[in-house]
Amino acid sequence: MRDKLEAIKAEALAKIESAEVVSTLNDVKVAILGKKGELTQVLKSMKDVAPEDRPKVGQMVNEARQAIETALDEKTKAINRALRAEKMKRETIDVTLPGVKKLTGHRHPNQIALEDLERVFIGMGYEIVEGPEVEYDKYNFELLNIPANHPAKDEQDTFYITDEILLRTQTSSVQIRTMLKNKPPIAIISPGRVYRPDAVDGTHSPIFHQCEGLVIDKNITFGDLKGTLETFAKRLYGDDVKLRFRPHHFPYTEPSAEVDLQCFKCGGKGCPLCKGEGWIEMLGSGIVHPQVLINCGIDPEEYSGFAFGIGLERIAMMRYNIDDMRLLYENDQRFLAQFR
Ligand code: DAH
Repeated sequence: MRDKLEAIKAEALAKIESAEVVSTLNDVKVAILGKKGELTQVLKSMKDVAPEDRPKVGQMVNEARQAIETALDEKTKAINRALRAEKMKRETIDVTLPGVKKLTGHRHPNQIALEDLERVFIGMGYEIVEGPEVEYDKYNFELLNIPANHPAKDEQDTFYITDEILLRTQTSSVQIRTMLKNKPPIAIISPGRVYRPDAVDGTHSPIFHQCEGLVIDKNITFGDLKGTLETFAKRLYGDDVKLRFRPHHFPYTEPSAEVDLQCFKCGGKGCPLCKGEGWIEMLGSGIVHPQVLINCGIDPEEYSGFAFGIGLERIAMMRYNIDDMRLLYENDQRFLAQFR
């Protein structure tokens, strides 16, 4: 019995010693200590041992078991330690390798144009006010002196949500909201998105952006409007810019003017960009119609004001010499990356 036990122990320790992976150790454990393992078998055969020898044999079995368990434990730890050491070696970071470049975002040309414009008007003491894109017909048309069947409504008459609610066609609605809420003096600009039934082409989009301007105070004249727009154009495009005021009609201003900028590309000679005109239309403007003031509870005998509405895309296009509006919406990285 003693010899047999010694043999089992010696063989087990030898196998453990030479094991290279943890799974071999598990095999040894099962083969020796498992339910049907060799040492377990020895215990089972105790009934054949003389009763007086049993305590002795029992002790020998326990000693063998303990020795094997200790050896298993130590070897498992040793193998794991070696594995970890090797892994550490393999995973060393080479700090000299080039990194993965992170692409950071940047402002869209429309946004750059807007921020330039905002800076100029904030510098002149204007406040920025925003209005909703889903707007009441009342604010978008009616209180702006555009009644239900007015022909001026034709080119904007679309995208109705109910009879009274629509996607705004112009930021002029914010004029009304502001005048209904605030007492003069008022000096605001209001940038935002607007919607029209326009087909897409190089200079049109059914969704585009405008910036509205409104000033109401005592003794405001057309001279104030001219001076303001000229200052604005010079700050944005340099002191050499030339503006042209052309008579026009808007129901909410009287008199009204469209304002053109002398073509920056040809200097007014006429080229494909300005379609041979020498001038590029930039905005609509005028002296706020007395009826609009009355609609908003402001006395036209006491107050007067001017208003204007600028297309933001046009500002970006002029500033960056972009000849097709669609480029602004297509999210083509080859185009956008130029504005980093
Ligand atoms: N709302 C006009 C448009 O969308 C632009 C405009 C013209 C705004 C004259 C004004 C204005 O405030 O006085 O074309």
